[in-house]
Amino acid sequence: MKPLLLAALLAIPALNANAGDYPQALQPSGRFSVYGHGAAATPPMGWNPWNAFRTEVSQARMLEVVDVIQRSGLQQAGYRYINIDDGWWLKRAASGDIEIRTSMFPIAGRADGSTSFRAWTDQLHARGFKAGLYTEAGRNACSQAFDRHSPNLPIGRVAEREIGLQGFEASDLKIMFQDWGFDYLKVDACGLADFGEGSEPVLESGHRALRPLIVRDDAQRTDRDAVETRYARIGRLLADLNPDNDYVLSICPWGQAGVRDWGGQYGHTWRTSPDIEPSWESMLHNFDSASQRELYAGPGRWNDPDMLAIGLGDFDADHLVEARSHFSLWAMLSAPLLMGFDLTQAPDALLELLRNPEVIAIDQDAAGNQATLVIDQPPLQVLVKPLSVPGERAVLLFNRGDATLQAQVNATQMKLAAGQPFSTRDLWQQRDFGSGPGPLDFTLGPHQTIMLKVSGTPVAGRGRLLSEMTGRIHVAADGLRSYSTNLAAAAGTPRADVTPYGEPLRIAGTDYHYGIGAHADSRLEVRTDGEFSRFSSDIGLQDGPMDQHDQAIFRIYGDQRLLFESPPMTVGQHAVSVDLDISGVQVLELVAADATARKEALKTPLVTWADPRLQ
Ligand code: GAL
Repeated sequence: MKPLLLAALLAIPALNANAGDYPQALQPSGRFSVYGHGAAATPPMGWNPWNAFRTEVSQARMLEVVDVIQRSGLQQAGYRYINIDDGWWLKRAASGDIEIRTSMFPIAGRADGSTSFRAWTDQLHARGFKAGLYTEAGRNACSQAFDRHSPNLPIGRVAEREIGLQGFEASDLKIMFQDWGFDYLKVDACGLADFGEGSEPVLESGHRALRPLIVRDDAQRTDRDAVETRYARIGRLLADLNPDNDYVLSICPWGQAGVRDWGGQYGHTWRTSPDIEPSWESMLHNFDSASQRELYAGPGRWNDPDMLAIGLGDFDADHLVEARSHFSLWAMLSAPLLMGFDLTQAPDALLELLRNPEVIAIDQDAAGNQATLVIDQPPLQVLVKPLSVPGERAVLLFNRGDATLQAQVNATQMKLAAGQPFSTRDLWQQRDFGSGPGPLDFTLGPHQTIMLKVSGTPVAGRGRLLSEMTGRIHVAADGLRSYSTNLAAAAGTPRADVTPYGEPLRIAGTDYHYGIGAHADSRLEVRTDGEFSRFSSDIGLQDGPMDQHDQAIFRIYGDQRLLFESPPMTVGQHAVSVDLDISGVQVLELVAADATARKEALKTPLVTWADPRLQ
């Protein structure tokens, strides 16, 4: 029996009085606390020369590629950002301004000897593109650590070679956006990581040593808060410098310093992993770094598993199966689609692949729901991405392995009403085929994906499952924050339809197909925008081999007003059903607070919001 608790029966004012008893992070914010500025309503698309040319980039080489993008229909397909990466600096002049390497970018030279990218961005804008630039949060750039024999490194005395933002944030960013007219900035972080006392770049190139704020793969020695503060400042400055809001900030600390948790508060895309290499293993690794972070992405904020390696190595024109899989996976993740190879060398088959309008449309779907993994049994993975049209889903069946396998996905997994017909379209073959209600069955060759658009009756009828609108959820606080910082992607953050550890949702022996699994403490903000009148959910502690002393309290707020509070609940206790009036509510907040009396270090209860729906 599940007792039905109605908010109306609760002594709400008295409960509010206790609000100070739990951590600040669990206090309702009354707002959707994401970055909210800029122009990344859908994931950015474009081209970046790094993987093709590294520091051997030049204006001429870039313009040849731009010509291909324009001629081949890629521009029309949505690739707009033409981004300069590392290597463009000559030095920081005595005035403090940065000089551009005109041997690489002659267009930047001016008659009076000064340099400016204005003519470059004007040219791109005139051709209908957007212009992107690259910089560094610390004093020195990645090339100064990892491409130390490049002929294109900054020159001069130590201070002249300090071309990163540190100490020059406001003036550099003003020049880049207001004087030079860029629309996109990638801010790397090697200067915060790789120039410590005794490091090679410091010993051999004489750079000034900086206490590393990022120690790669070492959460204990990484100063997460300091890194977060740097990027927060950059995000604020860019918002101030771009009153027209037409800009993108790409945050690039490669998944370190907890950026997967906070990136969406200060910028539009954040790297979840190290640099992609053009190998199958590297692509999988980078995919995995984002594939369980579905509650962090949404319009204006995107997990970034790095640029596309299509055209290179394991994804070249002789490996179209792998190239299609890579592209499909990035589209399912709502990842930025930044091509990264020399398109002048691209055979038609690759251009056609990168232009596929139906796959691009999945990446660019306005709802911004990143796909969730509905089957995660490697080598088989199945992902489902609810699209903005109710009842439409992108469905991807993916074979990570080297042997052929059978794959099946059913209506329930696709969040469609069981027993109802649905129609199916293959997005690579671009053809429709038979309709459900039965499960879809496929044979997948090695490394193959089948990517489908399926249209049917949503399982929640005219309502919405919370887990089919993940783009409207923001993980505001996460119980594992303190020690999940640099763990691999599966570090136990809140998830859609599974527990933080990927297990099925279960309360007191009852299984739930849908819901949100989280830790207590946790706080989720849901952007309801006044569109719904009711919120219902079963709530309880997740079944599992955990401490029977674990207790958690559930609280639900609408625009900061407490609508519901549960008593302390324990593992094995039956779910409580909640059904609340949320008419007019703009931001709904779901809080789970750890209420365990005797706490073991590093242990926190698992809670389940089971079958949560908005009507
Ligand atoms: C790396 C970054 C790459 C590229 C490179 C330039 O840190 O992840 O995408 O920008 O620096 O040196």
